[in-house]
Amino acid sequence: MTSPAPSSSAVPPPTDRYAAPAPPADVVRMRDLAVQVGGAGAGGRQLLADVDLTVRRGERVGLIGESGSGKSLTALAVLGLLAEGLTATGSILVTGTGTDTGTGTDTGAGAGAGAGSGAGSGAGSGAEGGIPRSTEVIGARESDLARMRGRDVTMVFQEPMTALNPTMRVGRQVAEVMTLHHTVPDRASAMRRAVELLDKVGLPDPAEAARAYPHQLSGGQRQRVVIAIALANDPALLICDEPTTALDVTVQAMVLDLVVKGVETRDAGLLFITHDLAVVASVCERVLVMYGGRVVEAGTVQEVFTRPRHRYTRGLIGASDLELTRDDGRLYTIQGSVPAAGRFPAGCVFRNRCIHATTDCETLPQWQGPGPEAGFACWHPVVHRD
Ligand SMILES: Nc1ncnc2c1ncn2[C@@H]1O[C@H](COP(=O)(O)OP(=O)(O)OP(=O)(O)O)[C@@H](O)[C@H]1O
Ligand code: SF4
Ligand SMILES: [Mg+2]
Repeated sequence: MTSPAPSSSAVPPPTDRYAAPAPPADVVRMRDLAVQVGGAGAGGRQLLADVDLTVRRGERVGLIGESGSGKSLTALAVLGLLAEGLTATGSILVTGTGTDTGTGTDTGAGAGAGAGSGAGSGAGSGAEGGIPRSTEVIGARESDLARMRGRDVTMVFQEPMTALNPTMRVGRQVAEVMTLHHTVPDRASAMRRAVELLDKVGLPDPAEAARAYPHQLSGGQRQRVVIAIALANDPALLICDEPTTALDVTVQAMVLDLVVKGVETRDAGLLFITHDLAVVASVCERVLVMYGGRVVEAGTVQEVFTRPRHRYTRGLIGASDLELTRDDGRLYTIQGSVPAAGRFPAGCVFRNRCIHATTDCETLPQWQGPGPEAGFACWHPVVHRD
């Protein structure tokens, strides 16, 4: 991230355009996130704008949208992992599991107390049962981000090989994330715990698997190892970016089950990115729809999938459901294609593809809804008469 790095005490309080105060159980509260490439001047391009997102403990939230909508950028921004040359503004407050050291836990209710100090915003360290550590990601120091990643927030990517070190035995890789964050007392306990975790994610002979190198495992087994690493420190938030897309359909369901059980036992939040709306329907309770680097609709999965309001959401759901036909008997598709990054029209980002667009749509539609968790931004929304 290329944003300036103020001292941890100088981080301003996050802005919030909604009246309701943030409930303490928010694990991530993103407000007004904007990501720019090429600087703020005329040559710059806006990749994300006005992105608001909240995930609470125990909540499973989906993030959907066509390729190039900004889903991965949003996820990477939470981890402070945006590529060189991108600038982020706004606020991303991550509230983690507590402080480092102590012992790893099976159930993930937090990982003890001890030496770690509050990172990022310096919003607190505290002993067990004290104030959880909060990190304001935008503008945080790299050392604070390093403390947050792998501990408070972890991520599972589409391709497990990119997350694993090909030259290190997988057991050591699982153990290392715990020793690094001091969530176990020593290396021996880390190794024991690593084998336990490999067992929990369903590797057939976990002790044997711990001694394997990544290339000696199948794609599905490697993704299980990545999930074991992601859950090792009982994170407050797990982010999954298309975690099953590269896997055979036969192992997809098992991996999804692991993710859901993993966050459930830990009462962690889940931010789940996928193209597959059926997966969102089975995994998530809430969903956000992104297009053109903006959240265009949000709500419960039930509400958004059965009564979409935004014209883009309507098209996305229609296009994914081969059973659904228009009045003229044709299948739904979204006409046109997603513009290149930063080349979306002014006003409503969807207006060059929307058959309902009017001159109103040349002005940016305001969010209509009680907060970032439910609402839409469309001048001529779908009206449901039932
Ligand atoms: N480092 C970068 N520099 C310039 N443009 C970028 C950079 N990273 C991403 N983009 C652009 O930002 C847009 C959003 O990218 P992002 O990866 O978030 O899309 P996505 O919704 O995750 O798509 P997919 O479903 O294909 O993974 C894309 O048009 C992408 O090309
Ligand atoms: S604001 Fe206008 S262009 Fe955008 S989705 Fe709604 S009707 Fe279509
Ligand atoms: Mg992506």
